[in-house]
Amino acid sequence: MTKKDEFFNRAAAAEAHDDMPRSPQSGETIGDVILKRFNRRDLMRGAFGVAAATALFGPAVLKASAARAGDAPDRFDFKEIEAGVDTTHHVAEGYWCKPLLRWGDPLFPDSPEFDPLKQTAASQLKQFGYNNDYVAYFPIDGSSSHGLLCVNHEYTNEELMFPVLKERQDTTGFKEMTEELVNIEMAAHGVTIVEIVRDGLEWHVVRDSPYNRRISPLTPIGVDGPAAGDERLKTKADAVGREIVGTLNNCAGGSTPWGTYLTAEENFHAYFWTDQRDAECKPAQNLGGEQAASYARYGVPGLWQAWGKFHERFNVDKEPNEPNRFGWIVEIDPFDATSVPVKHTALGRFCHEGAETVLNKDGRVVVYCGDDTRGEYVYRFVSEGRYDPGDRKANMSLLSNGTLYVARFDADGTGRWLPLEFGAPFLTPEFGFRSQADVVIDARRAADLLGATRMDRPEDVQPNPVNGKVYINLTNNDKRKADQVDAANPRPENYFGHIIELAPSGGDHAADTFTWEILVRCGNPHPLWSGVDALWNPATSDNGWFACPDNSCVDDEGRLWVATDQGDNWARTGRADGLYGLETDGPRRRTSKMFFRVPVGAELCGPCFTPDRETLFLAVQHPGADGTESLYGFGQPSTYKKPATRWPDFREDRPPRPSVVTITKIGGGKIA
Ligand code: FEO
Ligand code: CA
Ligand code: CA
Repeated sequence: MTKKDEFFNRAAAAEAHDDMPRSPQSGETIGDVILKRFNRRDLMRGAFGVAAATALFGPAVLKASAARAGDAPDRFDFKEIEAGVDTTHHVAEGYWCKPLLRWGDPLFPDSPEFDPLKQTAASQLKQFGYNNDYVAYFPIDGSSSHGLLCVNHEYTNEELMFPVLKERQDTTGFKEMTEELVNIEMAAHGVTIVEIVRDGLEWHVVRDSPYNRRISPLTPIGVDGPAAGDERLKTKADAVGREIVGTLNNCAGGSTPWGTYLTAEENFHAYFWTDQRDAECKPAQNLGGEQAASYARYGVPGLWQAWGKFHERFNVDKEPNEPNRFGWIVEIDPFDATSVPVKHTALGRFCHEGAETVLNKDGRVVVYCGDDTRGEYVYRFVSEGRYDPGDRKANMSLLSNGTLYVARFDADGTGRWLPLEFGAPFLTPEFGFRSQADVVIDARRAADLLGATRMDRPEDVQPNPVNGKVYINLTNNDKRKADQVDAANPRPENYFGHIIELAPSGGDHAADTFTWEILVRCGNPHPLWSGVDALWNPATSDNGWFACPDNSCVDDEGRLWVATDQGDNWARTGRADGLYGLETDGPRRRTSKMFFRVPVGAELCGPCFTPDRETLFLAVQHPGADGTESLYGFGQPSTYKKPATRWPDFREDRPPRPSVVTITKIGGGKIA
């Protein structure tokens, strides 16, 4: 029997392992979950099943690769935590972690307290939303202990939110979704802006702050740039194509040098409905009339949600242009609760992951964006105007005019930014583009024609102002075939993702060219899993490697922090998602260390430091999802129903409820 055969057999017996969470209802263990989700052939391919492998081989064997640690100084001053899987969070020794805002927490003086059994849309609009993703901190008067926190609420897990539901609705024809539940979902999306104050190790919300605000799919939003007022943005409710109602699927984002918040509309296609669908909720072909090619390229209508069942504007049969009004970057002024957010169409329409900015040396503002879908592209926007530190109002129109580019990565380690400009070759009426409005609305199709490089799901694209590089998180793409690999996406069936480091030519973020290199190929580097073909510095310990990079940030010393979102790949890596410090320079380049990990089934978002680096904000999103529903602590119709009898060890600081947590150093001082 080979070791891998043995591993498979032992995985089935993994329930005997003391550390395996167990559901009192189902008796299922993590080993059971792995076996249910991945078939024997998958497991035998050598790349997977580290959770059970740890049970089989024991940590001592897996520690072998850690013995080759380099002698170079470690830039991250913390004691690494152990990788693993359980239903709570863990932070490095010497740090204090505390939930600051959880789904349903009151934000205003008249907000009702959260009661998962009495949810209403009206109460949700006055409470912290669901599935917190991007986090930005805006100091008040330069303070690192008093400021505004902006948080995205990306999407909803109806089967986890609502105690009346027992299963996902998109897989069952939305039979149990009512208008009331849909309206609560809508109210749980969008953005929260809230004033917060530090008190010792912890932070508190200022409930009566004039800054506090919820922005949702119901909030009036303006639009500027090439598509503003275009025929394709006009609807029955908006004859001028300039008054959009709402923002949705707000995933990652960014902040600008002039103190505004950018929120990225990601999987917008998911929210659109058609009555022309089969029993399995698959839409008919060739929907959209003249826009059929555009619909097909963006996956509209996605039918992931039932909103169009009750709200006509989300039904493409009734309102065919409404999908063109989503998929944009939205700018919000957090310091004016009466301000109208703006969708900047110059930055293109696609499944926007984030919008990280950098001030170029010539004063132009550059925004880096990923289109998070398998095989989609990396984009860059360069403003036409220049930043003026003395004129905030003028700066607020910098994202209204500029040039959108898409990246081509060449095999020799160079690359080129290709401008998406109407009138250039292929971007002409002959190819279906009548104006720059068409180019930005159909940015994906324009990028196809220019020969951009299809990437393995571009998530955060993070400039580092200290070393001048840009870090592109490519989270995974298990559908890439062996004959589809290229230098920038070198692994077929890429379950674990990689990070590309891009260096703008001459240190100029507006330059047409760049060089690039793969920083890490993620996944287990242990020789037993050589099929993974991971790339790390050998100084990386068995706790330090990660999979599926998603969000990242760069701290005041220019160090890169990476947060992961493995989805159900946690069962392949044997570790819940977390936050890692990743060395980018010097002899320890490619060395990673684990600082924090989440309850299994959650993804980790944020991360965001205060300017003094004494507080770290992290967003723990959807604990209890991604194949963990049957595990101990999660095994109930709603993971948020306070379980008087079904979950005896419920603790306020540990419920699997989406939350933003703060991390501070016990005794004070900078983090790491
Ligand atoms: Fe919403 Fe691409 O993560
Ligand atoms: Ca993300
Ligand atoms: Ca980021």
